[in-house]
Amino acid sequence: MPDSPTVTVQAGRSSVRCGTGQKMLDAFLRNGVWIPNSCNQGTCGTCKVRVLGGTVVSPPVDDSILSTAEQDQGYVLSCQSIPTSDVVVEPPVQDAGTPHHVLRDLAGTVSSMTSIADDTVAVTVLLDEPLEFTAGQYVELSIPGTGQTRPYSMANPPSRSDELEFHIRRQPGGLATDGWIFSSLSVGAPVAMTGPWGDFCYEPDDLGIGLVLLAGGTGLAPLKSIARTALDLDPTREIHVYHGVRTQAELYDVDFWRALSDEHPNLRYTPCLSREPWSGRTGYVGDALTEDFDSCRNHAAYLCGPPAMVEAGVKALKRRRMPPRRIRREKYTPAISLVTI
Ligand code: FES
Repeated sequence: MPDSPTVTVQAGRSSVRCGTGQKMLDAFLRNGVWIPNSCNQGTCGTCKVRVLGGTVVSPPVDDSILSTAEQDQGYVLSCQSIPTSDVVVEPPVQDAGTPHHVLRDLAGTVSSMTSIADDTVAVTVLLDEPLEFTAGQYVELSIPGTGQTRPYSMANPPSRSDELEFHIRRQPGGLATDGWIFSSLSVGAPVAMTGPWGDFCYEPDDLGIGLVLLAGGTGLAPLKSIARTALDLDPTREIHVYHGVRTQAELYDVDFWRALSDEHPNLRYTPCLSREPWSGRTGYVGDALTEDFDSCRNHAAYLCGPPAMVEAGVKALKRRRMPPRRIRREKYTPAISLVTI
């Protein structure tokens, strides 16, 4: 096995070097060759590519992620596959609207840590060098001493590329949260990360139509980045933000959204509590949307949060006639996964 096998991407022009043990997706993205990707954990199937020649090693894949027929045709998950020889792959069809930021290793220093809700902190990291990304994307933070990473979406807009903002909720027993962020991370601590990852991205093509942003818990983070980016481009943009949490103690950034809606009269902010009565809206965000809209035909949506919330939100949007191509979603699952569909 060569030390540095060459992965050749067949798009007529691209060829990237893939080091020993390096996953193909990592090699592609570091060399500016865009492959759609989301979870980088082998759980979504977004990064599949078809191997036309050569050999790779990959862990077994559940056929709910990559069907047996696809596997028989040579498809592999590029985020999990390591070449063991020169390899030729057929890249997926490119989405013209997808941003192509080069994946990089980054270093920075924690500049603030603020408790914003029950078991939830906002962490800002001042980077040594700015990071180019698109609103909605995420980075993987390295957990010191473990060799492991965890994904966190940026809440800041890309225009503020030197200081990243993350919303982090404690996961009981979580390696990153209980084992690091909530136990030892503090202002001034060095942080290493890789990014940007993911194709849950704000699409400026949506300009001119209203946006519906549905968030569950800390799924609010990328939607905050998207809202700020959309308003930078058009301060009069119609934006409807629904933030679902269980209790008032879990609600955060209320003052931020209220100030933003004061500044931008076409932004409407609706926090929803699903498990506690209060003076505001109760129930799930999808139900609140269904009550508020007769039709979403002329809107685009971005959803981020727990899978059940995202799936219910998508159903609500479809019931209100939003075209499926305008529904972008990202699912947060505990500890490791981000899944964009
Ligand atoms: S399976 Fe590779 S990005 Fe999700």
